[in-house]
Amino acid sequence: MSTINLIVQTLHNLTRWGIVILGLVAIIRAFAGWFGKKEYTPADNRAGMLYTIAFDIQFLLGIVLYFSKGWFGVLTADFNASMSSVGTRFFTIDHLLTMVGALTLAHVGRALSRKAADAARKHRSVAIWYGLSFALMLAAVPWPFTAFARPWLRLFGISF
Ligand code: HEM
Repeated sequence: MSTINLIVQTLHNLTRWGIVILGLVAIIRAFAGWFGKKEYTPADNRAGMLYTIAFDIQFLLGIVLYFSKGWFGVLTADFNASMSSVGTRFFTIDHLLTMVGALTLAHVGRALSRKAADAARKHRSVAIWYGLSFALMLAAVPWPFTAFARPWLRLFGISF
């Protein structure tokens, strides 16, 4: 595999864990703030912002991989063939579209939480929209126990 693919794939693998952790922190804070009737603090705002930033970075890394690992080529060479196998369909279409959907939900949550008039509505926007984004994201990761398994952790040539 080319060095660039190895580096981008390692970053894409690791950023996934950043997104999982940042998403959990933002969502737990939002539910606690919503039901606990708490203030919406700068730390809440930061948690929400970091989740969307990590997701944006992951999107860019994913797009690079999509072209550099040849998935775009697979899709355009023979669309019907790439849809007929679960393995190729997942990376040519499913992973990409589901993640773009999850990213959009996160940005909707971020925009609504910024516009909301009071703390309760801000927390609620993050809890609901980020919660949906997070669930969609989890469903579209190629976890090692799925049909399109990729490693839990990748560090260049080493993977677990
Ligand atoms: C938003 C657009 C995204 C695109 C276009 C994209 C694209 C890709 C591509 C092309 C691969 C390489 C598959 C291969 O040939 O091995 C990949 C792998 C992977 N993606 Fe994404 N991805 C996106 C978002 C995400 C997100 C948001 C996550 C998780 C939070 C994620 C998690 C992963 C993981 C864990 C792998 C396996 C990495 C490895 O092989 O170590 N992806 N993705």
